[in-house]
Amino acid sequence: MRETQTIVEDLKHHAGGEVLVRGWLYGRRSSGKVQFLQVRDGSGIVQCVMGKGDVPDDVYRACDLLPQESSLAVRGTVREDKRAPGGYEIQAKAVEIVNVAEPYPIAPQEHGTGFLMAHRHLWLRSRKQHAVLRIRAEIVRAIRDTLDGDGFTLVDAPVFTPSACEGTTTLFEVAYFDDKAFLTQSGQLYMEAAAMALGKVYCFGPAFRAEKSKTRRHLTEFWMVEPEIAYGDMGDSMAVAERLIAAIAARVLDRRREDLKVLERDVSKLEALVPPFPRISYTDAVKGLNESGQPFEWGGDFGAPDETAISSRHEKPVFVHRFPAQVKAFYMKPDPEDARLALGFDILAPEGYGEIVGGGERADGLAFLEAKIAEHKLPRDAFEWYLDLRRFGSVPHSGFGLGLERTVAWMCGLEHLREAIPFPRMLYKIYP
Ligand code: 4AD
Ligand code: MG
Repeated sequence: MRETQTIVEDLKHHAGGEVLVRGWLYGRRSSGKVQFLQVRDGSGIVQCVMGKGDVPDDVYRACDLLPQESSLAVRGTVREDKRAPGGYEIQAKAVEIVNVAEPYPIAPQEHGTGFLMAHRHLWLRSRKQHAVLRIRAEIVRAIRDTLDGDGFTLVDAPVFTPSACEGTTTLFEVAYFDDKAFLTQSGQLYMEAAAMALGKVYCFGPAFRAEKSKTRRHLTEFWMVEPEIAYGDMGDSMAVAERLIAAIAARVLDRRREDLKVLERDVSKLEALVPPFPRISYTDAVKGLNESGQPFEWGGDFGAPDETAISSRHEKPVFVHRFPAQVKAFYMKPDPEDARLALGFDILAPEGYGEIVGGGERADGLAFLEAKIAEHKLPRDAFEWYLDLRRFGSVPHSGFGLGLERTVAWMCGLEHLREAIPFPRMLYKIYP
């Protein structure tokens, strides 16, 4: 069958007409004289009704035995039917079986997560996973559209790097011919170079962290979008991040309502994501924790329970800014009003989703950075190019990184990051 194929989503435009649908068998019912084949094609699921005598006998019998996830093509007439899921069904005239599947391991009953993760390549065929993947794709599109529309230029950062950006404890080392290299933890340092070339830039790609902890918020491979703004201060970056998050939520609500419904997402939580978002200092956040009876000592980094406690006071994401320099990366600019603080900020998502953005203003003085590189015991040679950015026309600049999977998990209302990426990589997990 090389005729024009119609996707299930478009059947509504073909009521009364004849179509060809190609896909996989999702489910099947039969009453002897009539069979109901549920065919999914990635855009939706349609019920195909086939009476005995509508197709040759051998085809009818073969369909009656067809296992779930066999691939098939169905030609027939589109009928409007209020009772059918999606409102349309197909009265089949011809069926071509493309591949008879072996007994399918994922049955409609509940499987444990371990089983489903081991069958991730097949699990992706289920309705909930379709919804997540489509929302993820929409979020990527919304991010690109927003930044492209705001005059940012996409600049791709390398994956093999000679140096650490976010501390040396989570580096993945790889053999690089006779030398070694690290998988990138963040494209930021390269975006700083690109911002000095082009003004407003962003990269959007995978980042790698050898996270040795098993949490629901950490992957070893994740995707991050990282805007960087020359002549932009911390406030400018916060404004871009705020706009970006609001644009993502608005886009998902606008274009992926059906998918949110499949996921049973409470959309009122997403409708609330309208700027301005609250902004509090690290010092005030610590005070708030202590007042609410959660002991926390000034100077430390927030853990997941602290982040949840801070964000639970708000319906919207909350900016926390001006962290103690000691818990932040070497490149952070010190607060001119209090040298103990760094001009960095995080955004904590509501509903316990935790940190989804990290960013801030970058140190722009050569001597300061030289001292920081030494203090953090980073290999000076690998950072000479970065120091050049301070030697040749250094300017104030800032940026941030937004984690894609944490954003997807939050928009979709998922419990764990592993479902927010097609093939998750975690501490003990690299198959399939
Ligand atoms: O806060 P992070 O480490 O910041 C940076 O990497 C900066 N260099 C970004 C920049 O300023 N250009 O990471 C940024 C975000 C986090 O807020 C989180 O959303 C996500 O990246 N992230 C992770 N997501 C999943 N798994 C992990 N192991 C992650 N680590 C960070
Ligand atoms: Mg961070």
